[in-house]
Amino acid sequence: MNIIIINKIQYMNIYYTKIWLLRNIFVYQIINSLMENIAVIGAGTMGNGIAHVFAQNNHTVTLIDISGEALLKSIETITKNLDRQLKKEKITQEIKAQTIANIHTSTSLEEGVKNSDLVIEAATENLELKLSIFKEIDLHAPSNAILATNTSSISITKIAAVTKRPDKVIGMHFMNPVPVMKLVEVIKGYKTSDQVTSTIMNKSKEIGKIPVEVNDYPGFVANRILMPMINEAIYTLYESVAGVEEIDTVMKLGMAHPMGPLQLADFIGLDVCLSILQVLHDGFGQPKYAPCPLLVNMVEAGHLGIKTGIGFYDWSGGTKELIIAEQFN
Ligand SMILES: NC(=O)c1ccc[n+]([C@@H]2O[C@H](COP(=O)([O-])OP(=O)(O)OC[C@H]3O[C@@H](n4cnc5c(N)ncnc54)[C@H](O)[C@@H]3O)[C@@H](O)[C@H]2O)c1
Repeated sequence: MNIIIINKIQYMNIYYTKIWLLRNIFVYQIINSLMENIAVIGAGTMGNGIAHVFAQNNHTVTLIDISGEALLKSIETITKNLDRQLKKEKITQEIKAQTIANIHTSTSLEEGVKNSDLVIEAATENLELKLSIFKEIDLHAPSNAILATNTSSISITKIAAVTKRPDKVIGMHFMNPVPVMKLVEVIKGYKTSDQVTSTIMNKSKEIGKIPVEVNDYPGFVANRILMPMINEAIYTLYESVAGVEEIDTVMKLGMAHPMGPLQLADFIGLDVCLSILQVLHDGFGQPKYAPCPLLVNMVEAGHLGIKTGIGFYDWSGGTKELIIAEQFN
């Protein structure tokens, strides 16, 4: 008799657990089916990669930029990157065609975000610019849309505060190059809701990434650790302790880094590195984050790395070969 009672209890437990699971799967599916239209603002280094991964994972993407030329260039880059995936047999011709068909472009923010479920801002790293973009997105995106930023360092809480939906503003920090790198640092602002955080964690997994949840402090985790290392490498060059090749070789062979910090800085963009260091310097008020004067000079001279063809290395002939920039020979 006892056994039967226990079995009945177990049966009821299983029954209610099943109902609970089905309800949650249903809610999850509804949330995700409502998250198919993605708007990406900024079609530069990061924006084109973000558009690429969402489009490849069956989302409709509107890529928005103030520059029509940047939009054209980004479609060229996405096509080139898809061709590389095709050559390596990672995707089929059909997936390539569907991915491109999933991407639309626009130079109007208002038009571009009006039907979106998730807006990801990946415009130039500049506080005033991001605040004005978020005020505008908040006006034109549907009221239930989640607004994410790919900022490398700017406070999510500060960005969220200029909107009327701070609970729906979150950091989605992708790594460069986006189609290759697995990590998404998901940054919870002071008022970001738990539901929005878990939706974005799930969305990141759905597009094949591995999300890590962190809290909103200057530089979050990735850049708080990475940027002081890059800055120190630039100081090491500035103080003539060693040359570009020597510094990068020490870190590659000695620390098993896949590329040296100066090469990495060229990949990230020296303007981006400078603005992250300024955020760390302002946010923590400690001299250890002060940007190296050589970095400041290079940014002022327009030597921003790969995107302008020259940084610590000369990229004018492509990215296959490492050629030290003339200034450092
Ligand atoms: N480059 C990296 O390795 C990297 C890595 C992670 C995160 N990020 C972050 O991603 C963001 C973008 O960086 P990026 O390297 O792609 O910059 P980028 O300079 O390559 O591209 C920025 C793009 O934003 C566009 N833009 C500027 N103002 C705009 C506006 N008002 N509306 C629409 N578009 C506008 C520009 O025309 C440009 O095409 C930054 O916040 C940066 O900190 C960069």
